[in-house]
Amino acid sequence: MTSGWGNSKARKSVEGRKLQIGGKTYERGAGTHAPSRFKIATGGNALSFSAMVGLDDEAGGKGSVVFRVLADGKVAAEVAVNGGDGAKELRADLAGAGKVVLEVTDGGDGMHFDHADWCDAYFTFRDGTRPLGAEALSRQLGILTPPAGRAPRINAPARYGVRPGNPVLFKLPVAGEKPMNVKIEGALPPTLAFDNATRVVTGTLEKPGDYPIRFVAENSHGRDAKTVVFVAGEKLALTPPMGWNSWNAFAGRVSDAKIRAAADAFVRLGLDEHGYSFVNIDDFWQNNPQNGRTDPTLAGPERNPDGSISPNSRFPDMKALAGYIHSLGLKAGLYSSPGPYTCGGCTGSHLHELQDAQSYAEWGYDYLKYDWCSYGRVATGEGHIYHRRPYFLMGRCLRMQPRDIVFSLCQYGNDAVSTWGAEAGGHCWRTTGDVFDTWPSVYGAIRAQAPLWMHAAPGAWNDPDMLVLGRNVWAGGDGDAGSSRLTPNEQYTHMSMWCMFAAPLMIGCDLENIDDFTLSLLVNDEVLAIDQDELGAAAALVKNDTAGGAEIWARPLAGGAIAFALLNTDDEEHEIAFSFKEFGMRGEWLVRDVWRQKDEGAMSGGYAASVPGHATHLVRLSPLPGACLDPRLRDIRDTVYIDTDK
Ligand code: GLA
Repeated sequence: MTSGWGNSKARKSVEGRKLQIGGKTYERGAGTHAPSRFKIATGGNALSFSAMVGLDDEAGGKGSVVFRVLADGKVAAEVAVNGGDGAKELRADLAGAGKVVLEVTDGGDGMHFDHADWCDAYFTFRDGTRPLGAEALSRQLGILTPPAGRAPRINAPARYGVRPGNPVLFKLPVAGEKPMNVKIEGALPPTLAFDNATRVVTGTLEKPGDYPIRFVAENSHGRDAKTVVFVAGEKLALTPPMGWNSWNAFAGRVSDAKIRAAADAFVRLGLDEHGYSFVNIDDFWQNNPQNGRTDPTLAGPERNPDGSISPNSRFPDMKALAGYIHSLGLKAGLYSSPGPYTCGGCTGSHLHELQDAQSYAEWGYDYLKYDWCSYGRVATGEGHIYHRRPYFLMGRCLRMQPRDIVFSLCQYGNDAVSTWGAEAGGHCWRTTGDVFDTWPSVYGAIRAQAPLWMHAAPGAWNDPDMLVLGRNVWAGGDGDAGSSRLTPNEQYTHMSMWCMFAAPLMIGCDLENIDDFTLSLLVNDEVLAIDQDELGAAAALVKNDTAGGAEIWARPLAGGAIAFALLNTDDEEHEIAFSFKEFGMRGEWLVRDVWRQKDEGAMSGGYAASVPGHATHLVRLSPLPGACLDPRLRDIRDTVYIDTDK
């Protein structure tokens, strides 16, 4: 039984208490949270279903939902309940249905407080028959990413931004069997150095300009070469930042030892060979006056006598930690808030912005996530000023540092941040609230990106929040990590769509306990190449068939190819199709299945694929000789505005 929040439970409410509606407790039943679905194969033998349904008392009399029974896809019964209503009886005639779905929707007003209980629920069956069992809502995809090739493959972005005069640290991402010989062909600017053993470029570039560097990698299985243009100028993050962040893995239980272990696992897993470079510490590296009372590791001065920020005792030496991360060729990131306190109640940067930016730079950090949190308590000004001031301020403070620090705005998309985040000095900005490992959460974040594509560009990225793939704290209980509650298909959708959006890819799982499936989602180089495409053009929703559950998102790629994501929003498998004409595509296009890394062939006329429930099929279409777009389209996303049939 899926649950929109928490986990569904047998004989207990979604929060693990006794099932209780209107003061009455029930021994039997299931507790869940809207939106929720449970599908049961009944083999044509189900006669009826009945239950007492309602909102659990733990929601405090709030919430509103609709309980619904579907028999072979048709509504057999439904009842709407509000918090405080008490239990209502639900009876459905199933008339020998083969499949029954028990569904709870949010009643149309959002899912807050929708703790829904199915109590004393029972089916009646024809004599001598019984349910066949609960059924997965659709065929689930397994590992699609092919095993890594043995020959070298350079996975570097085409362009890499640095600021003139600031230290450069660039580790060439290259996969393939070791030993491998990696070198530079041609001249390297004299102020840069390349270490063949570590594959790291260091030094500085003094003058603004483009510096093409040609890397060559060779082993006994083959050779690969790629030119990376180092662009010395104002912009950083010319492709979306990729890395790992501690929050979804550890939340408030982070420490120096855990960060080092994550950095070690990062390299052991070869994430750096696929383009991931940041190891970012989220909340809870500072002291925390609130939690310090119960957790001595968080007790301590908020700031030092000179006003500089004081890390908590779990982080004895911030500079040494950044140094350790750098010694692996990786970059280090930090987290703070413009308010007096972070969301977890740790010390924020309010009234110490410049001093904090200086500390981060002195310690050697390369990334700052700056989270609104408590800022509302001290914010002044009205309208845009209210929302923007703290980000412009920190943006300028970071810019003053003799160090390239990627600036990640976190204020959940308020005040249309996509339209001003770059001006504030941001390289990416959260466009949504926090994303958790549930379908409503991930899909909600996806839909929220639909109007934002025009704001993404090299150095300026919409950020629908970090990845929640793999073992994470939201799936576990009591701060321990548990396996993702997203189905495998939903995990494909999550990763595919983040790449379509040109989103920052911040892995959010416990790297030390990663499983093969999760890793396969994170290291598919052809999928990642879409995210990292040098055009930096985010996907638009070019076709939206709400009734059929089919969404098609598309983004142009450098060199004339187009990436299409065929997203099935329904639980059941469906074919998703489009004609080339409707997207103004002419001629023959070569279709490549990006997850499987296989060509599907040359096609003209259109394309169709059968997509399992909640999954996304990702393809790359490259123009064959003579193929082109309708000349009225600047790129495929203009089909949002221009009807190519007319
Ligand atoms: C907010 C942010 C999260 C995380 C937490 C830390 O909720 O949106 O990403 O940083 O704060 O407390």
